[in-house]
Amino acid sequence: MDEVNSSVVSEFVLLGLSSSQELQLFFFIFFSLLYVAIVLGNRLIIVTVTSDASLHSPMYFLLGNLSFVDICQASFATPKMIADFLSEHKTISFSGCIAQIVFIHLFTGGEMVLLVSMAYDRYVAICKPLHYVVIMSWRTCTVMVMISWAVGLVHTLSQLSFAMNLPFCGRNVIDRFFCDLPQVAKLSCLDSYIIEIVIVANSGIFSLSTFSVLIGSYVIILVTVWFKSSAAMAKAFSTLAAHITVVILFFGPCIFIYVWPFTTYPVDKVLMFYTIFTPILNPIIYTLRNRDMKKAMRKTVTHYLRSQKVSQMPLAMRNSFH
Ligand SMILES: *[C@@H]1O[C@H](CO)[C@@H](O)[C@H](O)[C@H]1NC(C)=O
Repeated sequence: MDEVNSSVVSEFVLLGLSSSQELQLFFFIFFSLLYVAIVLGNRLIIVTVTSDASLHSPMYFLLGNLSFVDICQASFATPKMIADFLSEHKTISFSGCIAQIVFIHLFTGGEMVLLVSMAYDRYVAICKPLHYVVIMSWRTCTVMVMISWAVGLVHTLSQLSFAMNLPFCGRNVIDRFFCDLPQVAKLSCLDSYIIEIVIVANSGIFSLSTFSVLIGSYVIILVTVWFKSSAAMAKAFSTLAAHITVVILFFGPCIFIYVWPFTTYPVDKVLMFYTIFTPILNPIIYTLRNRDMKKAMRKTVTHYLRSQKVSQMPLAMRNSFH
């Protein structure tokens, strides 16, 4: 770090969503409900996927893990944002800010690779159905989940020292509701060209390339099915439509944020909501369109509602609930 820039920033001011007093309470209630829905919805998916034997397949294994990442992604900054709606001084310490940057890149990077794993799972299921059981073994799935966390970790650590050593010149107001690298780096006295290169070369290229891989795999799947039969095509398309929706809603903001980090759009602030909207959309998109999942979920909920009574029943009757 440059000794000359001695002006140390010990905390940042987050401007949040809006300065209007009346809106704060509305936002507080709205985002609290949204957050509860995210946690409950994804938690329900995880419980259903792990407890229902009919869902013990690679697709649901990966879906359960996606829900876990979704809860993480919605939890590293949203609760603080919600609490900030009610507070006058929306500040965050320097280390808190660095922690948010680390988490957003860890979870977003992990989620991107997990989505690639899910696309690969569909590719094998649709294009190589005879080898599905062999290729998508339990081991492959576990390795894919581990790789997604490892990639997220490497991705976030690769920018950690850059973020931590940014020289600041006293400016500390962030017009967002949480810290992310582009906004924080913008406040530093470093040449914006250097910052742009670091962000685009890392996050920008990472999101663009995973996005291309995903779109490429969907095209391969659709072309393969198209040559098989139109019925297979229709079936594959309805599954893939869910994946493609998630991918576009998730990658769209990421690509805008990290490929053009310093261009400002009127919708900039709203784009940051991908950390909230993706986690709420995933359960909706992946489950409401899926009959097996809906059935299993209903069973899980009923089971949990009855579990109180069930625990007092004889064992033979208890088993009928599984
Ligand atoms: C997610 O992955 C881990 C490790 O591979 C696995 O043990 C766990 O069961 C998965 N979670 C769900 C909900 O499927």
